Amino acid sequence: MIRYQQIPAAKPKPCSAAFLAWYDRHRRDLPWRVGPGEVADPYRVWLSEIMLQQTTVKAVAPYYRDFLKRWPTVDALAEAPREDVMKAWAGLGYYSRARNLHACAQVIADVHDRQFPRAAAELKKLPGIGDYTAAAIAAIAFNAPETVVDGNVERVIARLYALETPLPSAKKEIRKYTSKLTDPERPGDFAQAMMDLGATICTPKRPACALCPFMEACAAHALGRETEFPVKPEKKPRPQRKGVAYWVRRDDGAVLLRKRPDKGLLGGMTEIPSSPFSETGDPATGEGAPFVARWQTLSGHVRHIFTHFELTLTLVVPESVPETLQKNPAQGLWWSPPAELAGEALPSVMRKVVALAQEKGI
Ligand code: ADE
Repeated sequence: MIRYQQIPAAKPKPCSAAFLAWYDRHRRDLPWRVGPGEVADPYRVWLSEIMLQQTTVKAVAPYYRDFLKRWPTVDALAEAPREDVMKAWAGLGYYSRARNLHACAQVIADVHDRQFPRAAAELKKLPGIGDYTAAAIAAIAFNAPETVVDGNVERVIARLYALETPLPSAKKEIRKYTSKLTDPERPGDFAQAMMDLGATICTPKRPACALCPFMEACAAHALGRETEFPVKPEKKPRPQRKGVAYWVRRDDGAVLLRKRPDKGLLGGMTEIPSSPFSETGDPATGEGAPFVARWQTLSGHVRHIFTHFELTLTLVVPESVPETLQKNPAQGLWWSPPAELAGEALPSVMRKVVALAQEKGI
């Protein structure tokens, strides 16, 4: 009997043309995307890319539409009062992006004659635009041959080539592979195709390999180890911080608010006056308070996860509010009537404070 040895079929190389053909059929219809052959508006590309930094497509879409409606051009945004921009951004997180967005619009309007630079190196000089965003804008808005690598792309490439180097050390290798694979004719579409693949098929936990245009070329798939890539560095527990939020209401229901300093966490946003967030245990009640009072602690806490730490806030209320403060709040403080509270530039963590206080009926 003749026995045939099974020879594994050679794995095909990843092919960017086939990948772009997949994108042309399956691309997501996103509010900032133009149709095939249409010319992208750099303002819209820039706005969407800034909003999409560390934020999901689903969370960004309504904010993007709202911004475009209110400020359809870069000079309209440049002329808007900064406070309006901060208010419109409230809830989207990472607030330095909103400050930089406004500053960048002003530089484009005043220094660049309302035209976004086309080269990534020039884009990178603008406020809020780093390596990734510069490459993404240059590729998507101007079809510049840039290599665009975000978290989704890292996952796709690490799997495609079964890269055993853990992140972040693997970044250089990933960039090299991405650059080699990028289609020089359609770098913008290639970048967006990679984003779509990472977001819809090559997902972190349960990749839908049967639908993937790279299935046959994928080294991780051949090994049956898709979810083992990218190899992650050892995870450290998220540090904990604690703070006190001073919930102060006037008899007419108005709530005392304060503007946070421009620099630092939640910079330039509005807060329920709060203590500094302590890394070493409970801050003393009264620290960072808007006025001197006897503060009573409420039961329950607000928890919020920031990128680098987890925050637990305790709510306190004053036994009484000084008469003078009720009429004339000190510098940086103001009373927000109940009907205006929702429109204030309150970040998500502060909205949680409002929700807890309202739940308690205080
Ligand atoms: N994430 C970052 N930029 C994106 C884009 N242009 N489309 C979809 N997801 C993205």
